[in-house]
Amino acid sequence: MKMDKKNQKMENSEFHKFFIDELKDIYWAEQHLLEALPKLQKASTSKQLAMAFEKHAKETQKQIKKVEQVFEILGEKAEPKKCEAMEGLLKEADSIIEDTDKDTFTRDAGLILAAQKAEHYEIATYGTLRIFARHMGHEEVEKLLEEILQNEKGTDAYLTKIAEDSVNERAMKE
Ligand SMILES: [Fe+2]
Ligand SMILES: [Fe+2]
Repeated sequence: MKMDKKNQKMENSEFHKFFIDELKDIYWAEQHLLEALPKLQKASTSKQLAMAFEKHAKETQKQIKKVEQVFEILGEKAEPKKCEAMEGLLKEADSIIEDTDKDTFTRDAGLILAAQKAEHYEIATYGTLRIFARHMGHEEVEKLLEEILQNEKGTDAYLTKIAEDSVNERAMKE
């Protein structure tokens, strides 16, 4: 009984509402990143980078499912709310494509920069939301957000590896 009362109180709290709002924000961000990834893949010069974008599109689909699971666990409707930050980051990716020449490694270096900015935004978001979930006692939600966080960190590290292994050096020779 005591527990129910506590949960009920928490669900009506400002903090809980804020948490849900931020989940809606990242839900929007993921959906729009997913839409943008094929464009980044197509614009890539390096096959390795194109494949990395393709892989992350598949992962992003899984992440979206996980965010939907989070809404379900919390008894909330999965609803996207426009994320101005991701919108801006995706616009920046577009201008990088416009500002660089096709089939160049300079473009790839730019695409990696744009993608890493988006990944870092996601890392910051999931990193914080996972701690919110922990403090609110939503263990299952915390686990799901942690899984997404690790996946984003892996993507970020892989992009760094591609830049260091080949792209930056080839871009410098152009
Ligand atoms: Fe993501
Ligand atoms: Fe991501």
